[in-house]
Order: sequence, then C-alpha cells, then structure tokens
Amino acid sequence: MQIAPRASGAIEPGELVQLTDPRGTKKTITTKPGEILHTHRGQVAHDDLIGTSEGSVATSSRGIEFLVQRPGLDDYILGMPRGAAVIYPKDAARIVSLADLGPGACVLEAGAGSGALTCYLLRAVGPSGTVLSVERRSDFAEVAAENVCRWFGGWPTSWQLLEDDLQDVSLGSLGSLGSLEPGSLDAVVLDMLAPWECLDVVASALRPGGSLVAYVATTTQMSRLVETMRESGRWIEPRAEESIVRTWHLDGLAVRPDHRMSGHTGFLVASRAMAPGQRAPERKRRPAPGAYGPDYDGPGGGHLTDNSAERAAEQVAEPEAG
Ligand SMILES: C[S@@+](CC[C@H](N)C(=O)[O-])C[C@H]1O[C@@H](n2cnc3c(N)ncnc32)[C@H](O)[C@@H]1O
Repeated sequence: MQIAPRASGAIEPGELVQLTDPRGTKKTITTKPGEILHTHRGQVAHDDLIGTSEGSVATSSRGIEFLVQRPGLDDYILGMPRGAAVIYPKDAARIVSLADLGPGACVLEAGAGSGALTCYLLRAVGPSGTVLSVERRSDFAEVAAENVCRWFGGWPTSWQLLEDDLQDVSLGSLGSLGSLEPGSLDAVVLDMLAPWECLDVVASALRPGGSLVAYVATTTQMSRLVETMRESGRWIEPRAEESIVRTWHLDGLAVRPDHRMSGHTGFLVASRAMAPGQRAPERKRRPAPGAYGPDYDGPGGGHLTDNSAERAAEQVAEPEAG
C-alpha cells in the first residue's frame, strides 16, 4: 500500500485507536466490529468507538471515561511491542532533521531493530521516497515488519526490508526499489553497536554530499566512530549532539519540571559524504592538550602521538584565543 496522509473524520473499522484513562494510562487497539476491550476499569465495546470522532469520550461498563483519539506516532512507538531497544521520539525528530530528509528522499537505515525509526523515516520521505532497512537478526526483522505494517495499515510500497548484515550487503542488490543505485542515496542512518565497521559500505552507497547520521549509546562508541571517519578522509567534519527533553508538571502554582525524566538515550553523530576521490580538508584547530596523548590508542592517533607532549606544553603556554 502507498503511504497515505493521516486519517481524519469518523473512526473506521480496522483503524488504530488510543484510549486514555483518567490516570493517563494509554491503550492502543485496532477497532473490530463486535469486539470488546477488557480493562481494569471496565469494558469498552469497539462498536462504541467506530463512527465516533477523535476527541470523543467513551464510557466503560464501570462508568469510567476514556479519551478516544487516533494515536500519534510518538505514542505508538512508545507502546508498541519491542525486539531491540527503540529510538525515542526526541532522537527520531533530530535524526530526520540532521539527515535533511524530505519527500522523495532515498534513505538506508541499519539496524531496523523494532522498526521505530523506520516509521519516522517512511513518514518523512513520503510515498515518493524510499526507505531501505537492513537488519541482521531475523527475529528483530519480523518485529519491525509487524510494527511498521500495523502503523501504516499494510506494507508500504516505499519500504524494503533486507535481512542481512550491512557489511555484507552488496550495493548492486539495493536496486530492487528502482532508484537505489550505489552512490545515489541521500542519507544513511546507523543505529547499531559498531557503526564504524559499516563506513565503507555507507560511503559507497551515499551520493556526494549525502548525509550520515549515527546513533550511539556511549561516549566510547562515539569517539571510535568519529576518529574512524576522520582517519578515512571521506567525511566532512562530523558533529555530535545529544537531546535532553524535560517534561513539566503543570498544576496551579505547582509549575516545575517533572521529577522523572529519560536522562540518557544516546548521542547523534552527523556528517556528509565527500565526493569520490576527494579528501576532507585537514582540521586547522589544534586538538586539546593530551587529546591524542600516550593514553590514546584509538583510530587516527598514530600520526599525532609523537609530539603530543610538546603540543600540550605549547598549548598551556599559549591558550587558544576565543
Ligand atoms: C538498537 S537496535 C535498532 C533499533 C531501531 N533503530 C528502532 O528504532 O527500533 C540495533 C539493531 O541493529 C542490528 N544490527 C547491528 N549490527 C548490524 C549490522 N552490521 N547490520 C545489520 N543490522 C545490525 C541489531 O541486530 C539490532 O536489531
């Protein structure tokens, strides 16, 4: 099926509906004539939801009121079954933006995991775009397929799911969706343990200037990825960021940040591909003292360690302006 604009109007059979109880607990169901939803707060007949509009209130057999809405993608992602850990909405939003995705874009992602990011990518590129998801574990690929198809109401024609290790994917095989020729992709998004192992495949898949965004959970992964990218010279100077979202409690005069928050999800590293045969210009800014000193044994450090002590002393004597 082709990805359609979000539904509006009366709720139809087979649609996803979210019920929110007075405590804010959310439950998402697929409406089916004659079915009954059983909750701790009583039963709700699907027939009472079909034909109503979003923003209505349904009353359970115990007289408890439920707010009726179609779920937003953020709520759907947080409530759907998981195989692997999902990308959270705050990070998905930044990924779509950092990868500069819009209607018609061609994007590759690996690993697909539970399919959370896949849903955001498919929505961003729309029916005229293409998303190729690569997942090496068949059990996770199955979960991703179920979650994506449930959200879109079928298998999107703009989506291809490949069960493979991205390192082993041959670029010629990416062509089954038409426009996925090597060197033609607009963006690649990596969410996996060792993204640096896939940089060669990614660099050959992207068009010159195409975006790479990698999501990593730890600083050690982030550092290894960035240094491997720098060493190859195939990437424009990477930038790194994390997003911290604090929700707020709003009650009369008690207006303050919520006590609980998601303190850490992951870091995003973003860059763009150089043209074939071109090497990224050397950075002119000097590394911080000790950055590549004797304790540094990661990628790209070899040529920098020899005079690191001298450079460190130099920088202490002459701190960088600004
Ligand atoms: C954290 S999960 C991805 C979650 C996903 N982004 C989501 O939002 O649901 C990481 C996934 O990457 C897969 N993976 C790791 N390395 C891979 C590789 N080289 N090729 C393909 N998949 C890989 C793992 O099997 C796992 O399912």
